[in-house]
Order: sequence, then C-alpha cells, then structure tokens
Amino acid sequence: MARYLITGGCGFVGSHLADALLLRGDDVVVLDNMSTGKRGNLDASVRVVEGDVSDPDAVSGAIKGCVGVFHLAGIASVAYCNEHWREGHLTNQTGSVTVFEAAARAGHIPVVYTSSAAVYGDAGAGPIAETRPTRPMTAYGADKLGSELHGSIAHGVHGLSTVGFRPFNIYGPRQDPSSAYSGVISIFNDRIGRGLPVTVFGDGMQTRDFVFVADVVSFLLAGMAHADAAAGQVFNICTGRTTTLLDLIGILGRLHGITPEVRHGEARVGDIRDSLGDPARAASLLGASAHVPLEKGLSILLGRD
Ligand code: UD1
Repeated sequence: MARYLITGGCGFVGSHLADALLLRGDDVVVLDNMSTGKRGNLDASVRVVEGDVSDPDAVSGAIKGCVGVFHLAGIASVAYCNEHWREGHLTNQTGSVTVFEAAARAGHIPVVYTSSAAVYGDAGAGPIAETRPTRPMTAYGADKLGSELHGSIAHGVHGLSTVGFRPFNIYGPRQDPSSAYSGVISIFNDRIGRGLPVTVFGDGMQTRDFVFVADVVSFLLAGMAHADAAAGQVFNICTGRTTTLLDLIGILGRLHGITPEVRHGEARVGDIRDSLGDPARAASLLGASAHVPLEKGLSILLGRD
C-alpha cells in the first residue's frame, strides 16, 4: 500500500482523486485549509491535516511517509484572484513552490500538480496544444504559469519529478455552486434545477472545453504513473470538444425539462473568449484521454446515470 499526499484533497477534484486512490488500495493523506473544501467530501478513513499550502511546516509535516504528492490546492476562481491579487498569488504560486521544496527535501518524491488552461490567455479559436505560446491575461493565469516555471526549475535544478497539468473547464458532482465565483456548470445547473434565471456574462457565445471530473482523475493518475518519464513536462486536460455557453444552457434545460430564463450581464474583465484544448500530447505520452461526453457527464451530475 502506497501513501499519497493530496493538497486541497477536501475539494472538488481532490476528493474524487482520493476516492480513486482508496479504491485501488492506496493510502491517502490530505492537506487542506478548509477554505472551500469539506471534510464530508472524503471517506472517513482519510487523514486530514488542516493547514495552508503556503506554510512550509504544514506541508513538510503532511508529506512524511508519502511516495508521491498530488498538488491540487489552489483558489480556482479567475475572477476572485483578480480581486484578491496577493492572496491568490500566495496560494496559487507560493503554495506550489512550498510543495516542490518540501517534496525535494522529503527524498525527491514525485509531484503531480495542476496548472491551468488559463496560462494560454485568449489564444483564439482552434485546438490549443501545449506548444502554443503562453500569454496569461489574469493574475490567476500568471500564478499558474509561475507554478509551471518553478515546476520546471524543481526538475532542472533539484532533480525532482514534477508533472504539470493544464485543465480546461472541469465539472462534475461536488463542485460547489454556492459562490458567484463557482464554475459555470455548477452555477447554471443549480439555478436551472431550481427554476431560477441564469446570468450570462457577455453574449453567451464564448466557448469552453468542459471536462468531466472522473476523466480529470484519470489524467492525474497517469501523470503519477509516468512521473519519471514525463518529469518537467506539462499536459492539457481536455476533451478536444467545444461548447458555447448558450448551447450548455440548452442542454441543461433539456435535461431538467424546462426552458431556462437567460439574463445577460457585462462580460467579465479578462474573460477568455474561446478555450479549446488539443488532447494529443497526454494521449500519446501518458495514454490519458477524456471519455465522458458532455451530455453524459451532465446527466451523471443530475444523478440520472
Ligand atoms: C475556469 C476555471 C479555472 C480554470 C480555467 C481554465 C472555475 C471557477 N474556473 O475559468 O479554475 O483554470 O477555467 O481555463 O472553474 N459565466 C457566466 N455566468 C456565470 C458564471 C460564469 O456567464 O454565472 C461565464 C464566464 O464569464 C466565462 C464562462 O462562464 O465566460 C466560464 O466561467 P468559469 O466557470 O468561471 O470558468 P473560467 O473563467 O473559464
């Protein structure tokens, strides 16, 4: 039985990853500051250390006895990080450096970490491969790119196996809809399910590559399995399929059996227009790909599948 540390393990993606590790017989330790994570997302057998990912003592304490780290802790909202610049930087970039340093000191245990598709900025239409120049447009994207640079330094200077992932828009059960900063699917699904209007920021023709959380978990596990061969590299987590927000609302309306009421607000500052990933590199080097089509993932979210 191998023990893994998941930072941010009480959160949306981390708790699904914890389930998958437990299912295959591994042991899981979680470090979480409980800012958005919930203990109830995890099986009772998981040891949870309450602490901040930017606190070196908390990280080095939690990492003891682990054979690998999944570093997922972070503030997920692009809009929140624009408004809370320093706080976002401390968690999203200093937190990554703290984890890399702790992993190196703990005997060079591999680190799989989440960056973001936000590092590409507004890259335009068409599938974005990892070779596309990075041009973050927000504090969030800058901190994620900074984490990647430090991930590469961790490998090049310190010999640590770091594997970075750039998820596109993740959705699925346990994604918390309760904040204005939550992921759009969680908000729209919650509101449409309660017969409430949804607010579209901008014209609704912006596109996203929505990837189901179970698929995300399979990419992260593949990254850890290939951590030495893929060390120092970054991979998209995406489906290669694109959906407009208005089409998303249409699908959710059909699944809920209602015609949603749509209101429009001002487009968000720094909002990306088109975001579509190219999944080829992860498929060829890690053997990882997304299998759950959007309608199927949404019906699982609704508890229909
Ligand atoms: C998302 C992720 C981010 C990830 C990035 C990858 C969240 C909260 N953010 O950012 O962690 O790194 O993708 O590219 O999951 N919108 C509305 N109405 C709403 C809420 C959102 O119209 O009530 C719009 C937004 O303006 C945006 C789109 O929906 O155009 C998606 O927004 P959001 O879910 O917040 O995600 P991203 O900003 O794409």
